Amino acid sequence: MGKQAVMISVTDNRISQNPNLKDYIDLNSSDTVTHMTESELLVILKKVKQKEQSTEKIRMMAGDIARRLGKLKVQEATISVETLQTVFTEVNDHEATMAFVEGWHLGQYEYTSYKSEKPLHHTELHIKGDGVNEAVNNGKIRAASMNFSRDLMNDIPSELNPTTFPKRLKDELENSDVNIEVFNKVKLEEMEMNGLLTVGQGSEHDPVFVEMSYQGDASKPLVALVGKGVTYDTGGINLKQGRHLSDMRMDMGGAAAVAGAMKLMAESKAKVNVVALLQIVENLPDSKAILPGDVIRYKNGKTVQIGNTDAEGRLILADGLLRAGELEAEYVVDIATLTGAIASALGSKLAGVFGDEDLALKMKQLGDVNGDHNWPMPLVDSYDSYLDSDYADFNNISSKGEAGSITAGLFLRRFVPGSCKWLHVDMAGMMSSKEEGYYANSATGFGARLLADYTKYVSK
Ligand code: BES
Ligand code: ZN
Ligand code: ZN
Repeated sequence: MGKQAVMISVTDNRISQNPNLKDYIDLNSSDTVTHMTESELLVILKKVKQKEQSTEKIRMMAGDIARRLGKLKVQEATISVETLQTVFTEVNDHEATMAFVEGWHLGQYEYTSYKSEKPLHHTELHIKGDGVNEAVNNGKIRAASMNFSRDLMNDIPSELNPTTFPKRLKDELENSDVNIEVFNKVKLEEMEMNGLLTVGQGSEHDPVFVEMSYQGDASKPLVALVGKGVTYDTGGINLKQGRHLSDMRMDMGGAAAVAGAMKLMAESKAKVNVVALLQIVENLPDSKAILPGDVIRYKNGKTVQIGNTDAEGRLILADGLLRAGELEAEYVVDIATLTGAIASALGSKLAGVFGDEDLALKMKQLGDVNGDHNWPMPLVDSYDSYLDSDYADFNNISSKGEAGSITAGLFLRRFVPGSCKWLHVDMAGMMSSKEEGYYANSATGFGARLLADYTKYVSK
């Protein structure tokens, strides 16, 4: 039999009857303490202050333990619902169980495709308690969906690019109820997806547009999820400089979030009516690449001066937003690693959410619960004129060096069909994480849970 671990509360007899051990645990500054007795490996969960208790705290704790036990090559670990209840008195047992399972499977995540030393050992989790199956299953689905987004984001540009991305989606989702349609370059020309076509001009990989639909309940309002899928952003002719560029393989994080959300909703049989619109393209400089100063004419007749080829995200999202209008979506959310400025404004633990103010507040509340933290941001009307162009209808960059995330949002607003309730999520600050709780030194997988929970919320 391999190594076994048992997770218990600090109030358990095994601890309370052993004053030395109790002292040792109390003196330890972390929330959980690992201790080897003669017969078993104990993981002791300390009491958590009431106001610090949340499902996110549970996920982070579980992720941390899963990684630690994996490093110790523990075969199996057990926790009872009763233990969770003792430690997290403020969270109901279904939510606590689900969060623990989710955090556990997220914490086991490592991106090892290109490591010759193979992965962390995975410790099998057992939850003791009656009627836990549904919570366990939901927790697993949520983690697997977020891990799918992480895998897509982490992958390298030679493997994941506009040529290969659609197949990756099909491989993952083909046995689900998600329907996938892929539009190639010829079709994009027919559909006048001119933002996508223009941004893709410099790459050997033709851009693609992927439309995925899932109808758990066709009577629900149509929700369109629009994702920026730039598989690599060099900046184009406005080549990025002097900065660590490897992370720009994650500039398809918006598309990854949407794909993860589709998996989550389909696998949990959510009663929603949703369409995913992914613009997938590589932004490279080349003799065929679009030049700064050029103009794009969009399907709705609007013309845009390319002030900067590195502001490519908004150019492709514009096509997706117009498509959402054609499909008569009632709710539209676009999500993108759009501006470095959002990370300056909000740091690396929050995304910014722009658009309908009531819905943005709801989005924040959903993120507070599900761990995809975000905060409402303003679309300041008086900054709209910063996008003026001398020779096109408007410019893709602002004439002022301030409020870069807001002007990007204002650019997108010009393409949002009037009938849609719209939100824009800028997740550029949330692309990658450092090892902590259920996060690894890897892509975050931000957004899958958020988009799925939001879609379910507006479909109630
Ligand atoms: N993909 C970037 C935004 C980004 C930056 C994401 C850093 C993650 C980390 C985007 O396409 C971009 O380059 N934006 C420019 C816009 C500018 C040219 C107006 C930026 O933020 O600098
Ligand atoms: Zn860019
Ligand atoms: Zn980009």
